[in-house]
Amino acid sequence: MDAIRFERNKLMLLDQRLLPAEAIYLEYSDWRTTANAIKEMVVRGAPAIGAVAAYAIALAADELKDADADSFFSGLTVAAKGLKAARPTAVNLAWAVERMLAVAKSQSACSPAQIAKILLEEAEQIAQEDREVNKKIGDLGASLIPDNARVLTHCNAGALATVAYGTALGVIRSAVAAGKQVSVYADETRPYLQGSRLTAWELSRDNIPVTIIADNMAGFLMKQKKIDLVIVGADRIAANGDVANKIGTYSLAVLAAVHQLPFYVAAPFSTFDLTLETGEEIPIEERCETELTHFYGKRIAPEGVGCYNPSFDVTPANYLTAIITEAGIIYQPSTEKIHSFFKEADDDLL
Ligand code: MRU
Repeated sequence: MDAIRFERNKLMLLDQRLLPAEAIYLEYSDWRTTANAIKEMVVRGAPAIGAVAAYAIALAADELKDADADSFFSGLTVAAKGLKAARPTAVNLAWAVERMLAVAKSQSACSPAQIAKILLEEAEQIAQEDREVNKKIGDLGASLIPDNARVLTHCNAGALATVAYGTALGVIRSAVAAGKQVSVYADETRPYLQGSRLTAWELSRDNIPVTIIADNMAGFLMKQKKIDLVIVGADRIAANGDVANKIGTYSLAVLAAVHQLPFYVAAPFSTFDLTLETGEEIPIEERCETELTHFYGKRIAPEGVGCYNPSFDVTPANYLTAIITEAGIIYQPSTEKIHSFFKEADDDLL
């Protein structure tokens, strides 16, 4: 079941807030409501919100296609700003918006209607690239998963968090497709429960054995030798390899290091932010208190208590065994290794 579809000039988003109880698509035809859908987590996961933002820019362009060139470009700039503000940590969002704006500017000799058409093609291209990139990450990463591996994952870095296939879950899918027996422990991922609601849902639909655990159980399972490796996705990776991902990832990386377990991050190039030297500079989204004080609309904490709800944390690069990308695996990432990795990838493209 796709998280994102674009049909008859409308964006259809699987409402991930309702999963696994209900699988319902909501329809979007303008950038403002789409930005709100990103903010409200109808769609979530770094690559997925990047692709959705690209479609939202295409929708904005379509809305503005009869305007003069100045109004067209200033309208696009407003949409770009509004979309980028929807969620601050996952860099794929800003990456996709900037890529769309660059295409629009490069076509400024065309009419707004022509540019709008080109922008829709570009959004389709971004979505298609994401499908292909995830398959490559999966197939490359599968070599790191031994037969009979018991894998721990956090949050949801699967098909629901991307256009298709997933990054961390893509690696698991490819390992299974290669004939390996893999079983997965899914951290429930408090407070938003992406693990128990979404990861468990999509893996069980694929008949991949999955066992839910509460986040605070991971250390005990590692001590019991029930986990062979950890694999997660990423929302933003700094130039030195520090990784922002769902809150709780850092604790898992520290636990994996203490128990001498491999800790892998699977992420596409679009998740790297080489403008940031270290993870210290990554903006961390704070979400509303009710995610902690309430459970399915019912208050579970006393009135008036303090509440702190950072949605992501940063895992220092020295805790990573490797980052799996579409162009290869970066072992023990560092500024030097990431720099030369990107340089080589650029040279290959030239
Ligand atoms: O708040 P979310 O659900 O958008 O957070 C998602 C994650 O942290 C994922 O692990 C990350 O975006 C990678 S998705 C391939």
